Amino acid sequence: MKFYIATDHAGYAVKEFTKEVVKSLGHEIIDLGPDSADRVDYPDFAKKCANAVIEDRGSFGILICGTGIGISISANKVAGIRAGLCHDAYTASMCRAHNDANILAFGERVVGKGVIESMIEAFCNTEFEGGRHAGRVDKIEDGCVFGSDLG
Ligand code: RB5
Repeated sequence: MKFYIATDHAGYAVKEFTKEVVKSLGHEIIDLGPDSADRVDYPDFAKKCANAVIEDRGSFGILICGTGIGISISANKVAGIRAGLCHDAYTASMCRAHNDANILAFGERVVGKGVIESMIEAFCNTEFEGGRHAGRVDKIEDGCVFGSDLG
């Protein structure tokens, strides 16, 4: 698998560790920054990673901020991105199996290194199940959940 990774300052400290985990599992990872722990705005780095995943068909992303919330909300504004905010191996596996997530998001202030490792393993080792889940993902992509449809 090919991954792009980006963080904000509150996710920066675990970026190198996360990259090593991905590489140790035999996958490729491209770092989109930031290059220091200086304060940055998470939407800017969410956008970089989300755009890279869309442009490089079949690739995946990893996004990290303090909670994982802001950076996943931001990424999910990009059409075609399904960023799953995960807290453990179960959510990391299910976001692939049921939601066909193409970005794994988590919070540096929420999970430890052991959990990060288990989430990446679970995300990488789980395929989208398709079937009944495919129609639901199609509905997300068709925009049926957008405000204009809600009457
Ligand atoms: C930065 O302090 C923090 O707000 C950010 O990393 C993230 O947790 C936002 O959702």
